[in-house]
Amino acid sequence: MIKPKSMLVDKRGDVQIGGCKIMPLIETYGTPLYIMDVETIRSTVQAYKKLLSIYPNSKVAYASKALSITALYQLLGEEGLFFDVVSDGELYTLLNAGIPAHRAYFHGNNKSNDEIRYALEQEVGCLVVDNKDELKRIETIYKKNKFTHKVAILFRIVPEIEAHTHDFVKTGQRDSKFGVLQENLFDVIKYALSMSFIHFRGIHAHIGSQIFDVEPYRFLLEKFVSIAEKAQNEMGVSMEEISLGGGIGIQYTEDDDPPSIDNFMLTIASAIKDTIDKSNLKIKPTIVIEPGRSIVATAGVTVYNIGAVKTIPDKRTYVSVDGGMADNPRPITYNAVYSADIMNKMNDPKTNKVTVAGKFCESGDILLKDILLQKPEAGDILMVYVTGAYNYSMSSNYNRYRKPAMIFVEKGQHKLVLKRETLADIIRNDVKL
Ligand code: LLP
Repeated sequence: MIKPKSMLVDKRGDVQIGGCKIMPLIETYGTPLYIMDVETIRSTVQAYKKLLSIYPNSKVAYASKALSITALYQLLGEEGLFFDVVSDGELYTLLNAGIPAHRAYFHGNNKSNDEIRYALEQEVGCLVVDNKDELKRIETIYKKNKFTHKVAILFRIVPEIEAHTHDFVKTGQRDSKFGVLQENLFDVIKYALSMSFIHFRGIHAHIGSQIFDVEPYRFLLEKFVSIAEKAQNEMGVSMEEISLGGGIGIQYTEDDDPPSIDNFMLTIASAIKDTIDKSNLKIKPTIVIEPGRSIVATAGVTVYNIGAVKTIPDKRTYVSVDGGMADNPRPITYNAVYSADIMNKMNDPKTNKVTVAGKFCESGDILLKDILLQKPEAGDILMVYVTGAYNYSMSSNYNRYRKPAMIFVEKGQHKLVLKRETLADIIRNDVKL
């Protein structure tokens, strides 16, 4: 699925998402504008909850680096999700949404001392500890601040599974900045057990992102269950929790062919149940999954105004829009490919091969290269699909442009959830000489 679930185009070509006509919203809020279809988000969350119906001892934690804003935390909080946060800023936003800190997992390979203190003060549900130095810093900060509560931790380990979109190699990826090497795991667990305030809960790994294949997850699960058996047999330690990370892939263009989240979940949930039933674990661990992209990406579209169309004979046609690499850095960063339509010509045939350029001062600021679109003209509106994840969250103020607004649409109602930045916002941290 590339377009938001509730998107409709009528005979006249008028586009609706979430029961809201988009053109009047553009007139109200301007462009570029991020639009999020709440129905798509809710239905994806339901698909993830299949895991709970097959293996009830499980948790879905939204990896909020994909999109971290107060309104989304509120929405997903209502759906009963847990949350992965990776910075004090994400935790602060989560708390601003009224979500209790005990529903948060705090990740990061180099959490600052201030972040650790903040996380301990707020009593976050679980710290996902990346290395032994971090554990030592946690101990120092805990003692210095005279905290008294128990601190639950998972250790992030290097999974040594290389997962690519359609391919995985079991031996790769030792060379990673994240996590404890497997040969050092029992040593750090022993160290954690020597601290009376630490509650060692289990292990975590994240094998990568935009993965289309369920096999690497099955392999990780089997590896984790055998590590848990070993910890039980050799150290008498129970792993209460096993976190398989995030990374489930989604469709950006017609060329992508990921399994549906429903199928992915049915397969992995059955594998979880079978593997744990067959194991000799005395305590059945809680299984955590941490999807980010797949929860929000397809819900999002970005609309831009086309300001100019320039044809270089025998070369290409450039279509310039009023946004680009600052609101969607994925094409320039990862050569990411997107799908799009000219929204006010939806029912016209896509006969024009063009390149859509952003407005930032970089020749590399190309949003869509050699894409087939309806005939573009200045004044048209371009709609780019699947922009809900890692667009706003990775956006910048490059060239001192203001970040766009975002609206949620559902059941004929729309809600502004991020205001467009103002010129005053642009200079708010400037200090005059
Ligand atoms: N858990 C951990 C520990 C992670 O590091 C990540 C993503 C996730 C979960 C969620 O992965 P997802 O389900 O969203 O794939 N900026 C890149 C993606 C970076 C992902 C980093 N970690 C992009 O735009 O493609």
